[in-house]
Amino acid sequence: MCGIVGYIGTKKASPILINGLIRLEYRGYDSAGISTIEKDGLSMMKDKGRVKNLYQLEGMDNLNGTIGIAHTRWATHGKPSKENSHPHMDNSKTFSVVHNGIIENYNELKNFLADNGYTFYSQTDTEVIPNLVHYYYNKDEKNDSLKFLRAVKNACCDLKGSFAIEIICKDYPDHMIVTRKDSPLVIGKGEQENYISSDIPAILSFTRNFYLLNDYELAILSRDTIEFYDKHLTILKKEPKNIEWDATSAEKDGYEDFMLKEIYEQPTAIRETIGAKLNEATKCEFSELNFTKEYLSSLNNIYIVACGTAMHAGLAGKNVLEKLCKINTQVDVASEFRYRDPLVDEKTLCIFISQSGETADTIAALKLCKQKGAKTLALTNVIGSSITREADFSIYTHAGPEIAVASTKAYTSQVILITILAIYFAEILEIAHEQVDLLKRDILELPRKLEETLALSESIQSFSKKVYQEKDIFFLGRGIDETVAKEGSLKLKEISYIHSESYPAGELKHGPIALIENDITVVSIITDKNLVEKMVSNIQEVITRGAKTLVITNQDIDETMFDMTIKIPKTNSFISPILSIVPLQLFSYYISKGKGLDVDKPRNLAKSVTVE
Ligand code: G6P
Repeated sequence: MCGIVGYIGTKKASPILINGLIRLEYRGYDSAGISTIEKDGLSMMKDKGRVKNLYQLEGMDNLNGTIGIAHTRWATHGKPSKENSHPHMDNSKTFSVVHNGIIENYNELKNFLADNGYTFYSQTDTEVIPNLVHYYYNKDEKNDSLKFLRAVKNACCDLKGSFAIEIICKDYPDHMIVTRKDSPLVIGKGEQENYISSDIPAILSFTRNFYLLNDYELAILSRDTIEFYDKHLTILKKEPKNIEWDATSAEKDGYEDFMLKEIYEQPTAIRETIGAKLNEATKCEFSELNFTKEYLSSLNNIYIVACGTAMHAGLAGKNVLEKLCKINTQVDVASEFRYRDPLVDEKTLCIFISQSGETADTIAALKLCKQKGAKTLALTNVIGSSITREADFSIYTHAGPEIAVASTKAYTSQVILITILAIYFAEILEIAHEQVDLLKRDILELPRKLEETLALSESIQSFSKKVYQEKDIFFLGRGIDETVAKEGSLKLKEISYIHSESYPAGELKHGPIALIENDITVVSIITDKNLVEKMVSNIQEVITRGAKTLVITNQDIDETMFDMTIKIPKTNSFISPILSIVPLQLFSYYISKGKGLDVDKPRNLAKSVTVE
């Protein structure tokens, strides 16, 4: 949601900025723009619509500046339009700014600036920033090298809300300033050039050395240097982080879409996430954690808080934490949890799952739990992401960058990691030895079984062809399979725009069955041997009413009554979602392709939801 890119170096900035924006397209946006410093002052090119349209803007070819900022906007304040697109300049065209986040007190600041003679040309909250910087810049009587930095710092101290900001100034043609609070921003260090981005994959092909800013920290960049300051303008020392992700992991690598590539990367992502943490001979190891038997025994509750697909991974986490570790576990959507005064105290462990580590509601929920005295643990895919800087502990999936908006490999990696975490807890608690041994064995076999499951893709594609024009599709399951039904239904909605619902199969008769009519499609998941008969009876009820049925199962059942059965490998029920979701990911993918949609960038959705 909103992307920012910056470049300062020896090369022409404009193509680098536009290419960077293209790599951030997956975050979701409706307008794009860039600003560079040219010989005659600041340039600004922007419009609503796709990033590639920027190439067509008059004057784009004439930009030669080697320093610039760029932005993709996802409208919050003011509709998508040229005026509301970023960058925004102050009235005197001294400063150009791009901003990701929301300035909550922009009305108050706007009134203050209007009273001081400033005029506004957009409906955005962002436009107050360049004007406020200009206000402080003008008031500052000292004309030293830090004047630009002081003005930005003073302006940022007045801002309430969230921001990642890049700012250039025509009086400082060799410098760029960046700062952030609660919104993502990374700085990539190159040779005689430096890069800014909202996330790592967009600039991974240029550098592996990244700097991260904490809230309210500022960085002033030149071609060769990066200096860091805190909010009192005291100089900070920072070490770069070396990111191990392979640059090709942010490319399509021969696949038609990132989503398909990421679906096929799941065996590797699971292998990497298991890593050295789990083996059959020794106890699970998390070097980042120091939980004791005493602490775990004292817990009254675990909360798992997340959004979207990550929340569905949390449901699989609840299943294993309750059944294996016998700890009462609740799963909550972050945007609800925050506002319902949750019963959290020092005896609660709060786990936050987030692929990006930047989801605004999840981070806010984490801060709330910290205030209430709970221990907080972040489970994320992105090293150094905001959530890891807030949490007491962080553990990582090793899924590599996930580019497609619809999450696939991040989900399965989250499920495996929380399962390994539960094993780690059970081993500390010295319980469930036999179950743990079996589960470990099954986990180590998962990558191979995932490969077998992916080989079923053709049958799924052929069923998808039969149903891609449907208006409604239902998903049913019981127990752990119901959590997979939820995720399958979400995948379908996200990328095919088909209306879809998921239900615990036992709830059918309490309402949803009224919606079942001739030829409607019902997808069911059956992996729990204790629930086979109950599930089959529920499916029969929909068949009787004319439904077409797709069944994903690892059980030996009479398949003749269903339109299509996808037989996946048997595994431990704690980790069955990792296999049973795969046919559903492919199902959604092929339906979306059948409809000719943009699989990786579905309408209205953003990969990283950085506003509340
Ligand atoms: C957005 C994405 C989803 C993701 C959710 C949570 O809605 O489109 O794919 O599951 O945010 O994101 P997170 O990065 O916190 O896992």
